[in-house]
Amino acid sequence: MKRVYMSTYISGFHSVIEQILKQKIGDVQIINNMDGAIIYKSNINIQNLHLPFFNNSFLVIGYDSCNPKLDFNKSIQNFIFNNKFSLDNATDYINFKKDKTFKILGIDKNQPSSLDYKLVENIEKKIHQSCRLSVAFRKHDLDFLFVRRTEGIILFLLKITYSRTTEKFLNQGELRPELAYILSWLGDIQNPDVVMDPFCGHGAIPKAIVKNFHYNMLFASDLDKSMIDKLKLEYKNNKKNFYIKQRDATDLSYFENNFIDKIITDPPWNIFNSKDNINYKIFYEKVLKEFYRILKPNGTCIVLMGNVKDFEYALHKVKFMLKERFNILVNGKKANVYKLIKT
Ligand SMILES: C[S@@+](CC[C@H](N)C(=O)[O-])C[C@H]1O[C@@H](n2cnc3c(N)ncnc32)[C@H](O)[C@@H]1O
Repeated sequence: MKRVYMSTYISGFHSVIEQILKQKIGDVQIINNMDGAIIYKSNINIQNLHLPFFNNSFLVIGYDSCNPKLDFNKSIQNFIFNNKFSLDNATDYINFKKDKTFKILGIDKNQPSSLDYKLVENIEKKIHQSCRLSVAFRKHDLDFLFVRRTEGIILFLLKITYSRTTEKFLNQGELRPELAYILSWLGDIQNPDVVMDPFCGHGAIPKAIVKNFHYNMLFASDLDKSMIDKLKLEYKNNKKNFYIKQRDATDLSYFENNFIDKIITDPPWNIFNSKDNINYKIFYEKVLKEFYRILKPNGTCIVLMGNVKDFEYALHKVKFMLKERFNILVNGKKANVYKLIKT
């Protein structure tokens, strides 16, 4: 049975997400790909799949076009009146347990928005009857959502991802696992690749690689000893050909020329700490020259960078071919992702 889903993703990866989704699911028909959210149809129950490139995924109970300039609750009223959704989509999807609770929430143009209780009261009753769930007063198990987007679409959704890593489980500065996955995917990592992250920090990128990709050897290094010690402890006695060392990325002389297939990395951006007296134009140039030297011919380098001006200045001084560039948002801040090839 074909079901419709909506998944949210990092804004700016519009085309990449379609490619990954088609590769992962195969049986998928894309209905609408908006910046940061994709609506698609599939016979496969995505609840059973590992889709680490998405932020959150939802079952679409119904959707319709709308006028995003109207009052939000008025749009919901029209949506309900036009009868564009059926709760049967939800009842046959999840094996609801009697003791589960739910709440109906509103999101208008990416912001939580209050709902007119009278409008949703009837829907609550129907969910209670048809799905055998109880309305929650405080903590709830399941989220049903009315979502209206600036693109002029309104949806009634059931959230199906609840185990997403929340910010409180991440270290300061650590990349979200979804971003680390997409960066690694862009590197097209395959066995027998030798892969490296020379600015690994807390290790989000190598962790994503160990978990999701096949490779021959993986090297992770950083200048900060405390981060390296922590990562070493986490992967003590690992049998994953994963080597962790404290190193300076401006001097990678412990690697021979043409040794590495893929570099996937997130160097310092110097946006938050402009007092460190480092000339970042020179720093990036040194680093890129080392990357170029240790990469094999046609080797790939994926770089996440917020300091676009200094990085692009340095990039002009090295012979990398710029294959692709994506403008994305990382925690609300603009950044670029570069795919560079050693020509
Ligand atoms: C943007 S952070 C990387 C964060 C990482 N992706 C994570 O998920 O935790 C940049 C890292 O570069 C490291 N760094 C700064 N200068 C360095 C250098 N010369 N060589 C190696 N690492 C360096 C910092 O210690 C920091 O951990």
